[in-house]
Amino acid sequence: MLPLLISETKDSSPLIEGLATELGLEFISKRDALKKQTLIHAQYYLVIGKNKSYLQVGIKGKSKPIFCNFTEWANNKKKSNLMRCMKGLPSECSVLDATAGFGRDALELATVSRSVVLIERIPWMYYLLKDGVRNSTQESVLTLVNKFKLVQSDAREYLNIEKNKTDVIYLDPMFPNKGSARAKKNIQALRDLSEEVLSDDLLIQALDFAKKRVIVKRHKNSNYLNNQKPSFSIQGRVVRFDVYVTNSSH
Ligand SMILES: C[S@@+](CC[C@H](N)C(=O)[O-])C[C@H]1O[C@@H](n2cnc3c(N)ncnc32)[C@H](O)[C@@H]1O
Repeated sequence: MLPLLISETKDSSPLIEGLATELGLEFISKRDALKKQTLIHAQYYLVIGKNKSYLQVGIKGKSKPIFCNFTEWANNKKKSNLMRCMKGLPSECSVLDATAGFGRDALELATVSRSVVLIERIPWMYYLLKDGVRNSTQESVLTLVNKFKLVQSDAREYLNIEKNKTDVIYLDPMFPNKGSARAKKNIQALRDLSEEVLSDDLLIQALDFAKKRVIVKRHKNSNYLNNQKPSFSIQGRVVRFDVYVTNSSH
């Protein structure tokens, strides 16, 4: 399923329709969306707003907007196990998040690194990432998002042609909902709106490309990517981080 693109205001314009084409989405007017909503259960919309763009479930606006809320996330000081995976690395290290999604993990990685390249293959997700960065105005948030470089690409293609290696590569490929714990709304949206891509080959490429570490986020009951045993794992209530120490000299 793909989201339908609508404009927050009632009017449509060639600009909005052009954007829909660019993102590979179907544009629908609010009026038509209202007619259609009774027919389709849980339809997602990419709403292009004046101030920000966001995903929404259903047309009547009962669902909370789903967007890259870097300001809220940057102000949530709770440290996750991801930070423990970065322990021992210099704050000058470079990170590549090969599966950027909403960029929440990338934002946390930016707190302990010099730069983060975010790779996202889905055009509309990439658009929301750009919009999230554009809407970050608070000084403390800007310090973090200014370390971002956003790239719209399949990470496998990017790693094939990019020459400059990076210290750390982070992989958070989609995993199916395995337990009773409910996924965060944004991750559930990605699950509903995209196909799972096999990422075993991405791990092989990442291990070759990362100078120091590859960190993989998995569900605690999932097997290792490519069935490859990590150097160590850090397990939480739902999620497990597998850390591969590469320490290559190239
Ligand atoms: C589970 S989400 C990542 C969530 C992210 N860690 C966050 O904090 O929001 C996985 C994302 O990776 C993207 N993705 C999966 N495989 C990819 C690939 N080979 N290249 C680029 N993006 C990829 C998907 O489109 C999806 O947006």
